[in-house]
Amino acid sequence: MAFTVPRRCAGTGIANLVPTLWAQAAAAEDPAIRTPSIFDPSSTPALGILDYSHLVLGICFAIFVIVMVLIAATVVRFRRRPGDDDREPPQIYGSNQLELAWTVVPIMIVFVLSLVTVRTILALQIHERPQGWMPVTVVGHQWWWEFQYPEHGFTTANELHVPVDRATFLTLESADVIHSFWVPQLSGKTDVIPNRENHMWIEPQVPGLYVGQCAEFCGTQHAYMLLRIYVHTAEDFARWAKAEAKDAAVTPGVAAGRDVFLTTACINCHTVRGTVANGRFGPDLTHLMSRQTLGAGVAPNNADHLKEWVMNPDHLKPGVLMPAMGLDARPIDQLVAYLLTLE
Ligand code: CUA
Repeated sequence: MAFTVPRRCAGTGIANLVPTLWAQAAAAEDPAIRTPSIFDPSSTPALGILDYSHLVLGICFAIFVIVMVLIAATVVRFRRRPGDDDREPPQIYGSNQLELAWTVVPIMIVFVLSLVTVRTILALQIHERPQGWMPVTVVGHQWWWEFQYPEHGFTTANELHVPVDRATFLTLESADVIHSFWVPQLSGKTDVIPNRENHMWIEPQVPGLYVGQCAEFCGTQHAYMLLRIYVHTAEDFARWAKAEAKDAAVTPGVAAGRDVFLTTACINCHTVRGTVANGRFGPDLTHLMSRQTLGAGVAPNNADHLKEWVMNPDHLKPGVLMPAMGLDARPIDQLVAYLLTLE
């Protein structure tokens, strides 16, 4: 899949649209990606939200039509006519019935909408955990996502893998500021707040790749805090989890790059399981090459972009908290060669 990301817009108000548009463009190119839309739900909470949206949109549309018809009728019926200025102004009397109608009807509409809203919220929040549910802890960081699988004992980043037809309950935490977790086809937005645990759940019904993004402005690279959710069949998910639970590959021939990694500040922020690197500030790199993108969706994850990223992360993702390590060309090539083996 080839794509380029217009990074200049990152952090501006309308920039939130850009990744969505990008994701949609990517969806057109790659049939595996489901175009992000709340009108094409594929998970239990998202289906409930769509039903609710249809009701609200239907009522609002009916009100719109009625108001427009009344306006049109009034404009035609009471349009200016010759001789208007010579006539006595009409005596206007109140109508108790009319005033009652336009007070009571809106109150009833608001009442019905409130009841349905509360019912929908409760149905989404208070959900009995069915047999076989899977827990995942999501930690929002400036500007990437950490996914912890407590049942499986590993942590990954930016790409969440879940099984189809099985409930996944997400515990949402933040390491810094307020973010918001949003994958339109799977569920509604839930804020990710420091010093607080929020919860949401998804139960996808169709395997595939779903895209989402942070939906709460959280700093310079808010617009590139993208999400990819892979929904697998049970067997594929088990296979993925088994591979992900393994320690990092030890590949002969990249010892020099491994040494560069383990003797620089990389290990203060990144974990590579099976080595001394156990930093938690940045993404876990144990299976870095199993991920499709770099920098939470800012570029495809390949040798060229990895090299660009390591040389100067700020170039791909302005404002990113990872510093340029200032390594010479040779150690950078060795380091990238090592990173490419972390499959
Ligand atoms: Cu994280 Cu916006």
